[in-house]
Amino acid sequence: MSEILRTEKLTKNFGGLCAVKDVSFSIKEGDIMGLIGPNGAGKTTLINLISGVFPPSSGRIVFDDRDISRCKDYAANNMGIARTFQIVRIFSQLTARENILAALVDRRRNGPWKLMGKAIFSKSSALTDNKEAVREADRLLDFVGINQYGDEQAGSLPYALSKRLEIARAMATQPRLLLLDEPSSGLNPAELVDQIELIKQINRQGITILIIEHVMKVIMDISHRLIVLHYGEKIAEGDPMKVYTDPQVVEAYLGDDTDAAH
Ligand SMILES: Nc1ncnc2c1ncn2[C@@H]1O[C@H](COP(=O)(O)OP(=O)(O)O)[C@@H](O)[C@H]1O
Ligand SMILES: [Mg+2]
Repeated sequence: MSEILRTEKLTKNFGGLCAVKDVSFSIKEGDIMGLIGPNGAGKTTLINLISGVFPPSSGRIVFDDRDISRCKDYAANNMGIARTFQIVRIFSQLTARENILAALVDRRRNGPWKLMGKAIFSKSSALTDNKEAVREADRLLDFVGINQYGDEQAGSLPYALSKRLEIARAMATQPRLLLLDEPSSGLNPAELVDQIELIKQINRQGITILIIEHVMKVIMDISHRLIVLHYGEKIAEGDPMKVYTDPQVVEAYLGDDTDAAH
């Protein structure tokens, strides 16, 4: 399979702190790439760079043979990159369905964020007027298993379901690459099993996934390949089992008790 994403010596400095340093890796189309590393290793920063939250200090990001290093988040999204957040970001005043509609309707012109802002402040019915979009939103609610919550205020959803809503909203933008930042954090064991199944199901549709995950058995179960960050640097990449037993990786984790516990 062909390469869908490549980073070349990607670096991000925050003042004197180098959060991501010279990170080069590539993801093949259709793969699930796991991204692990101790707390503060730069995992979220790497996803922020790829999704266009902020530009790299140096280095390049190539998606689908195009240099997207300087693309803003809405532009990266329009090209086919969607993401979820470590701390769920949904619009709590909108219903679950409206959250998805906002991502669906007219995303090319406004970007979902602008449109959601408009919907919140004007209380307009613009979101629910588009019947085709409503049908698609309901299909996505169903796909992530929360179809009975469409009319609920997103802010009142139980935590596990709000994480599913966030995935549905990302899926609404029809991504080719989905970036998931700790999609199973805070879930109980039963919810965790469902979440893994959902992620596998998304991947079976041909969507490439880059997933940050703390629970080792999850990452070992679903990743085709794995990369490990430590203090912003890539210290290992490749077959999950090989990476997991790599002495440098073991060392990195033993040095951090909080992560070794998982
Ligand atoms: N926007 C930011 N401004 C300043 N420092 C940041 C910012 N984002 C992350 N950092 C710092 O960069 C390092 C890596 O953070 P992060 O990417 O969140 O790590 P991880 O997700 O692996 O736990 C940390 O030291 C963190 O404090
Ligand atoms: Mg993080």
